[in-house]
Amino acid sequence: ENNLSTEFIGRNIYYYDTMDSTNKEAKRIASLEDEGTIVISEEQADGKGRLGRNWVSPKGKGIWMSIILKPDVEPVKVGAITLLGAASVFKGLKKMNIVSEIKWPNDILISEKKVCGILTEMSAELNMINHLIMGIGINVNLDEVDIPDELKEKATSIKIEQKKEIDRKLLLANILNEFEKLYIAFKDDGNVSKAIEICRENSVSIGREVRVIRGREERIGKALDINDRGELIVEFDDGKTESIFAGEVSVRGV
Ligand code: BTN
Repeated sequence: ENNLSTEFIGRNIYYYDTMDSTNKEAKRIASLEDEGTIVISEEQADGKGRLGRNWVSPKGKGIWMSIILKPDVEPVKVGAITLLGAASVFKGLKKMNIVSEIKWPNDILISEKKVCGILTEMSAELNMINHLIMGIGINVNLDEVDIPDELKEKATSIKIEQKKEIDRKLLLANILNEFEKLYIAFKDDGNVSKAIEICRENSVSIGREVRVIRGREERIGKALDINDRGELIVEFDDGKTESIFAGEVSVRGV
């Protein structure tokens, strides 16, 4: 059976057995494809993480997918779109009774370890977005052996945490259903309040000590809240409070 109830997200799916990176493939085809088209692969030979890192994507064990989006908004709004992705993964998991937390702005954690990362890439010109690729990588059924030793402290899979195999197709449908709801509100009038509320209420970051890295600068502060634009409000040790729009934020101990 098929649990997908969307109108346009995931209605057109390019499904591969193997692929270099679904984000790369989505970029190659984006201009020719309708919004909502998805590229998904059983494995990635060259999966990309943020900050030029690679993303471990073993065959048949995860959800490695990229969604092609063409929102009619200015590029500055893109930061908030990543939160839509994070909120939908959170809600999709919740629908299957799996408890997770959101690490602002693009990670989903279970027991303080990462199970999902999001890499949003944009092509824009003249202050208009041509297209946007939202790459979502979820460690669904990875076993301990699939997680490289150097990542074991920080990364896990849903299967490892739940001690049972998860239905990837059902999880995918749940996530896409949630994503479309949030994305339609965003497209209609730039409304991301629902996604922000989900992120705020289920955030590991808020109330915790965080390290904010911008280029070579690194500062320690405390995350106070996520504001209505989706920015993280951080009170730094020098007493100054700032809203962080992008850049690397790591939560101490996570
Ligand atoms: C991160 O946390 O660093 C982001 C990881 C994003 C991984 C996904 S897997 C599907 C898509 N294709 C890629 O090459 N990367 C994203």
